[in-house]
Amino acid sequence: MRGFSFKYKTFVILIAGLLWLSTSAVCNAATTGKYWRHTHKSKPRQRLKVNVLGYGAKGDGESDDTKAFQAAWGDACKSEASMMIVPLGYKFLVGPTSFSGSNCHKNITFKLDGTILAPTNSKAWGAGVDQWLEFTNLVGFKIKGKGTLDGRGSVWWTDSFRDFKQVSGPMDGKKQRSRPTALMIVGGAKMTVTGITIQNSPQFHLTFDNCDGVLVHHISISSPGDSPNTDGIHLRNTKNVIIHHTNLACGDDCISIQTGCTNVLIHDVHCGPGHGISIGSLGIDGTTGCVSNITVRNIKLHNTMTGVRIKTWQGAKGMVRGVSFSNIEVSKVEVPIMINQYYCDHSFCENRSAAVSIANISYENIKGSYTVQPLHLSCSDSKPCMNLNLSDIELKPKPNGHQMAEPFCWQAFGELNAPIIPEIDCLQEEHTSKRWGHHDAKCAA
Ligand SMILES: *[C@@H]1O[C@H](CO)[C@@H](O)[C@H](O)[C@H]1NC(C)=O
Ligand SMILES: *[C@@H]1O[C@H](CO)[C@@H](O)[C@H](O)[C@H]1NC(C)=O
Ligand SMILES: *[C@@H]1O[C@H](CO)[C@@H](O)[C@H](O)[C@H]1NC(C)=O
Ligand SMILES: *[C@@H]1O[C@H](CO)[C@@H](O)[C@H](O)[C@H]1NC(C)=O
Ligand SMILES: *[C@@H]1O[C@H](CO)[C@@H](O)[C@H](O)[C@H]1NC(C)=O
Repeated sequence: MRGFSFKYKTFVILIAGLLWLSTSAVCNAATTGKYWRHTHKSKPRQRLKVNVLGYGAKGDGESDDTKAFQAAWGDACKSEASMMIVPLGYKFLVGPTSFSGSNCHKNITFKLDGTILAPTNSKAWGAGVDQWLEFTNLVGFKIKGKGTLDGRGSVWWTDSFRDFKQVSGPMDGKKQRSRPTALMIVGGAKMTVTGITIQNSPQFHLTFDNCDGVLVHHISISSPGDSPNTDGIHLRNTKNVIIHHTNLACGDDCISIQTGCTNVLIHDVHCGPGHGISIGSLGIDGTTGCVSNITVRNIKLHNTMTGVRIKTWQGAKGMVRGVSFSNIEVSKVEVPIMINQYYCDHSFCENRSAAVSIANISYENIKGSYTVQPLHLSCSDSKPCMNLNLSDIELKPKPNGHQMAEPFCWQAFGELNAPIIPEIDCLQEEHTSKRWGHHDAKCAA
């Protein structure tokens, strides 16, 4: 019996071994067959890679590759930490597209090494889109690479193309359509954008809306200084943001920080041409503007309209608290330091007493040349600017054909720490701090 049992065991083990070998060979073959086109050899986990060329994208700059991009995204979305590849050496024409992430896995990478072109004919834009490429509700999403998003916005900028901005309304013929943002990132968390260039957007280049955790570095944004409303980076209702080592050249604010933003750090950024680094405008149409804890340092501004600016509308509510601007180098900047609580983007705005309250703003080590006015602090009668702290300011005139003006302050309170050049004698001392800190500002913590 023992002998039989031994032989039987050996036999069973042998058969089991053969079975194991053959099934694993089959499995491997299946895996290789299925993923061969898209995957590299993977370490512990498969990281799916999808290349838009594998989905029928032509990349010739003329064929419409929108569907291929959507299909590639559809697959990338289904796999954690996948990568969607837009390869070098191709120009992909892609119409307005929303890459939605509500059902997508985390940590997807959009690897942009080639160029993506926006359509330049009105039809391809359809009616009423506010953005060209949109990524929504993604977590751990990353856009990286050496590639370019080209919004080809010049068709939107000039009057001769007014027709382009008009679309047929449902009833009454033509209506004006707003110019789209090139890259819009909405409702995401832990987002990174790095390496890429975004150029010639019809309007804003890169907008983050309702995001928590944003890292932008080593990107480049470029459009002509006279292109209308082409903000570089636009932040709205977004917190925990770091933007660094980035070049911004555009026709409006290089960086614009809108209501709902907090904990924002911006450093080692070049701006120009453009309108500078701006908080606001806040509080349009009596709305509430809330911005806090913003740090802006090691910035170079060249040939810009303003340097560092806070702008709010009259009749608004809310507050701006805890802003620090330091190590700011300006050259040929019209007005390097500005607060404007009378912001009005058209010719006439009615005087209103309500205002966004502004306090605890520091300016340290701001140096270089201006072409109009070194400093302009125009604060509200009802809500003066409080606790402004200016230290180590050295601004020299560089006449450029504009009429030059002296430093100007209105209802601005704070302290000066030498050196301050030119002399600023319009800032008022704070005798009491009880004028700020208890405003009717309603900003969520
Ligand atoms: C996503 O990436 C982050 C950072 O690398 C990592 O900590 C996290 O575990 C990843 N999450 C998933 C679901 O892969
Ligand atoms: C202010 O923002 C910085 C990032 O710039 C962050 O490290 C810091 O924790 C924030 N402070 C508070 C009080 O939230
Ligand atoms: C003023 O703002 C700075 C950050 O810029 C912050 O550290 C400080 O706590 C604020 N002070 C008050 C009184 O709000
Ligand atoms: C608004 O107030 C300013 C300053 O008091 C004054 O110069 C200006 O005329 C007022 N404008 C209107 C439209 O009332
Ligand atoms: C103003 O800034 C200077 C330079 O950073 C600093 O030494 C001083 O304490 C600040 N004053 C206040 C009231 O925060």
